[in-house]
Amino acid sequence: MDTWQPPQTAPPSEGPLLDTFGRVADDLRISVTDRCNFRCVFCMPAEGLKWLPKDEILTFEELTRLLGIFVSLGVRSIKVTGGEPTVRADLPTLVSMFREAGPELDMSMTTNGILLDRLAEPLALAGLDRVTVSCHSLMPHRFEGMTRRDALDKVFAGLRAAEEAGLTPIKINCVVIGGENQDEVVDFAAWARRFGYVVRFIEYMPLDADHAWERAKVVPSRQIVDAIGRVFPLVSEGPDHEPAASYRFADGAPGGIGVIASVTEPFCETCNRLRLTAEGQVRSCLFALEELDLREPLRSGATDGELASIIRTAVWRKWSGHRINHPDFVQPERSMSMIGG
Ligand code: 5AD
Ligand code: SF4
Repeated sequence: MDTWQPPQTAPPSEGPLLDTFGRVADDLRISVTDRCNFRCVFCMPAEGLKWLPKDEILTFEELTRLLGIFVSLGVRSIKVTGGEPTVRADLPTLVSMFREAGPELDMSMTTNGILLDRLAEPLALAGLDRVTVSCHSLMPHRFEGMTRRDALDKVFAGLRAAEEAGLTPIKINCVVIGGENQDEVVDFAAWARRFGYVVRFIEYMPLDADHAWERAKVVPSRQIVDAIGRVFPLVSEGPDHEPAASYRFADGAPGGIGVIASVTEPFCETCNRLRLTAEGQVRSCLFALEELDLREPLRSGATDGELASIIRTAVWRKWSGHRINHPDFVQPERSMSMIGG
């Protein structure tokens, strides 16, 4: 397929959230804010982005109502994300509302960890199951270079608080960039073993607001697995439903590693993800060039059935996969923080 053609058919009116390639979307990422207190070089410009005005962001009630509809459509797991989700005021209240809307949901959160030292416990009490903390270097100066914040100690404190609050197993997201932090992957594996973390190495993707992404800076996941495996032999956990290929340590040490090879080994064929942006747009792919709006209908009195049908249409129109490796690749207008990882 050279260019994407939207399907001419209508989505099914019942059953799971299906697309025309037979994939079922049952994992939803909900961005609760576009704001962030970090400025990671591979995501945001140093001066930040123009934040959405408050009235354009979905309220707690709106987010919760939409979540209820997604759950009725078969969504089983959600990830609370941002921007940085913990900068949304009163996040534990929102999490408890989400928990009520989906008592059975697997609910985790992706965070930069800087506010977890005081939020981990209230979030756990509100019903959050787990956290994924982004951490791209274990060296303070380099951490600061990559996030433009001198905050590594604060992130470590956040990790300890998450552990104490039982937000486990803790996953770590580490974006690997050639020439920046590539030499730390074995140190990260040693760290994973020491604390029982699952460190997931993510290939650098063209989702940075500065458009500075270069293919030459992508470190193939295969190289990372090989480098770690030479020091700490690994056992593949086999393909699961996650985009990350997971490995445990052959000697039985705690923790593990995973790689998210979005660029060199795309996993679009088995993608089960769906995204809701902070201002109420449904996106069927990180790299999607189209999105469907839920906020306007939501605010002008649409019924649950009408909103559900917009969601079904958004999933039905999902393309076969991203086109990073094709000459016609177009970077989406939104950068990572405006989509929600
Ligand atoms: N490429 C890969 N990962 C990225 N993230 C942010 N920007 C990029 C990028 N350009 C990561 C964040 C977070 C996760 C949701 O995505 O650090 O861990
Ligand atoms: Fe913030 Fe996450 Fe973007 Fe870093 S990657 S600037 S923590 S939204």
